[in-house]
Amino acid sequence: MAVRRCGHMVLTMAFAYLHVFAEPIVELCETNLLQRDLVLRTDAESALRSGANNSAFFVWHTDAHVDPFYLTDLRECQKRNLTLLEAHPFGIMSCDPPERLLRSAFAASARIGAPNASFVLYTGDFVRHAIRQMPDPYENASQIVANVSRAAKEAFEDLPVLFGTLGNSDSREDYYQELTDNESSNPWFEKLGSAIHSQGGMKPEVLEQFTYGSYYETREGQLTILSLATVIYSVDHLPYGPLEKDPFGQFRWLRQRLQLAAADGRHVWIVGHISPGIETFAYTELWYPQYVEAYLEIVQDPVLGPWIAAQLFGHAPGSGRRGDPVHKDELRLLPEPPASAGPIFLSSSLSPVYYNNPSFKLVEYDPISGRLLNLQTFISDRFEAPEADWIFGYDHLKQYGLAGLSMAELQNFTERLLEGGESYERYASWYASGYPNELEHYSLKAANWNATWKWQRRRQYVCALVIRTAEDFENCSGTQVLRSWQLPFMERFDRLILGRLWSWAQGSSLPLAQQIKHLAAANQWEELLRLFKGLVEWSLQSGTPLESALLTA
Ligand SMILES: *[C@@H]1O[C@H](CO)[C@@H](O)[C@H](O)[C@H]1NC(C)=O
Ligand SMILES: *[C@@H]1O[C@H](CO)[C@@H](O)[C@H](O)[C@H]1NC(C)=O
Ligand SMILES: *[C@@H]1O[C@H](CO)[C@@H](O)[C@H](O)[C@H]1NC(C)=O
Ligand SMILES: *[C@@H]1O[C@H](CO)[C@@H](O)[C@H](O)[C@H]1NC(C)=O
Ligand SMILES: *[C@@H]1O[C@H](CO)[C@@H](O)[C@H](O)[C@H]1NC(C)=O
Ligand SMILES: *[C@@H]1O[C@H](CO)[C@@H](O)[C@H](O)[C@H]1NC(C)=O
Ligand SMILES: *[C@@H]1O[C@H](CO)[C@@H](O)[C@H](O)[C@H]1NC(C)=O
Ligand SMILES: *[C@@H]1O[C@H](CO)[C@@H](O)[C@H](O)[C@H]1NC(C)=O
Ligand SMILES: *[C@@H]1O[C@H](CO)[C@@H](O)[C@H](O)[C@H]1NC(C)=O
Repeated sequence: MAVRRCGHMVLTMAFAYLHVFAEPIVELCETNLLQRDLVLRTDAESALRSGANNSAFFVWHTDAHVDPFYLTDLRECQKRNLTLLEAHPFGIMSCDPPERLLRSAFAASARIGAPNASFVLYTGDFVRHAIRQMPDPYENASQIVANVSRAAKEAFEDLPVLFGTLGNSDSREDYYQELTDNESSNPWFEKLGSAIHSQGGMKPEVLEQFTYGSYYETREGQLTILSLATVIYSVDHLPYGPLEKDPFGQFRWLRQRLQLAAADGRHVWIVGHISPGIETFAYTELWYPQYVEAYLEIVQDPVLGPWIAAQLFGHAPGSGRRGDPVHKDELRLLPEPPASAGPIFLSSSLSPVYYNNPSFKLVEYDPISGRLLNLQTFISDRFEAPEADWIFGYDHLKQYGLAGLSMAELQNFTERLLEGGESYERYASWYASGYPNELEHYSLKAANWNATWKWQRRRQYVCALVIRTAEDFENCSGTQVLRSWQLPFMERFDRLILGRLWSWAQGSSLPLAQQIKHLAAANQWEELLRLFKGLVEWSLQSGTPLESALLTA
């Protein structure tokens, strides 16, 4: 199980670890026999020093949000007519895509990753938005999960397909996950787990763990991967109820798995769907603060933290009928990173529903230390044409001008973002996988902008890059966060629009900002939506900063 391919990675691993995985490697890969003497004399450290190129790759997909009803009256994309969608068989900007886009992305990534990739990872949200508008949400959502898994196995015949990280859309209702802590298994996780497993996307030993709380540990080569259930920590999690201290005992489990890994000297990646912290559209909370704190306490532990070589999340919350307009390429920092902490990345989505080009990643890593060496993002900026084609988008190391992707290096980089100069421009230009976006307008170079304003917007953004509670974010950014309990029950997308207006007004002294603050203080939420929702949406679509969009009003 440790090694399945006779590639670059196998050789590398054989160099350092043949004593551990001698049998499978020898069975599968004759050439490794040649290395045997060498291997037996060496260890990981000296293999590194001897100049062995410890480099392997995996393909990372996330947030496909596939809509099998794309060309029917039940489609997610009610805002476009069928004639238009028929002319766009791979999908269209602002809508969840048909399975065809997914298959095209899988095929392209299989081709690109083929010679060197050692597995495929998916970080959740298989299912389209507007889940409840499907004829049979329970059945159809699980069928989508099965179909996506099958499509992956068909495209990546020879590679392990590591599916099972669930998103908020992977349910019969957005964000709905029953807390069945006291049961030995959860019927929904059983259903999805069997769906993925039966299509070849989940190992039997993963399925065994998965059915309890949907979190699990798995190994790829020397790496230990801990896949977390994150929807249960979301401020939007349903059904509402008193918060448990440790739902499904997952924090206890995480700590214990890390302790075992540390004791064995195994490096770990944590993967999940919704990251902790603050999202960067409306600057609202993603997880409840008590869960953010519990998580940070574990990953910042001075003994356990150094074994976490990376944390990888998909996007970020979809919601109600529309979801969050995030789905972007971002990094995150820990407030007090332990020594040699690995990076945290949030990957942009395949679905173009929130105005980003469809994308996937090829990630280069060191298979022994788990260190991430580079990320390359591939995009399709012409998927609306009759034939989707995939092109190289950007190389994170080169684009950010970094020597490496450790958290210390990313911390340095983030400080430069605040300055608004070249680093900022390079980062902002790929925030939406190359699609125009608001952040680009806050660089120093962007014309006609008051530098104080732009600095304030950058500060808000950079403060949100550190994983923290809303309270700490407020301290950092000098702006207030709109808490979900401040709003009456309404669609999540409307709540986000209000959050965005609110966070914008907090950092502005314009008369319009005063008006927004007054209306908010008087709980005139409907009025705010009536006046500004269209403008906020237009700003998102066109990549225009909210300042300009609102000032045209
Ligand atoms: C490893 O070697 C490949 C070429 O074989 C190269 O593309 C890659 O950058 C190298 N990685 C490192 C970390 O040196
Ligand atoms: C469909 O939408 C397109 C673009 O908005 C419009 O030009 C076209 O007239 C519409 N077709 C029908 C049949 O409504
Ligand atoms: C990946 O595979 C290609 C084609 O075999 C090869 O040219 C390239 O050097 C490989 N890259 C790495 C980093 O091994
Ligand atoms: C949705 O579920 C219903 C009921 O099981 C089924 O008849 C229908 O074929 C499903 N639709 C798709 C696209 O799978
Ligand atoms: C799943 O795939 C089957 C076979 O291609 C298709 O008939 C069915 O409609 C798909 N269902 C969903 C929900 O995607
Ligand atoms: C599980 O059982 C314990 C002890 O009976 C109880 O306190 C707790 O509320 C239960 N949890 C759930 C989610 O039902
Ligand atoms: C951070 O930046 C400083 C100043 O440019 C540099 O001296 C230091 O080596 C950098 N640290 C890392 C980890 O890159
Ligand atoms: C820039 O913004 C500050 C703070 O809002 C304001 O005092 C200043 O007059 C503005 N400068 C220009 C050139 O608009
Ligand atoms: C916010 O900053 C103030 C002043 O620096 C400090 O007293 C307070 O403890 C901080 N609050 C939090 C939550 O960090």
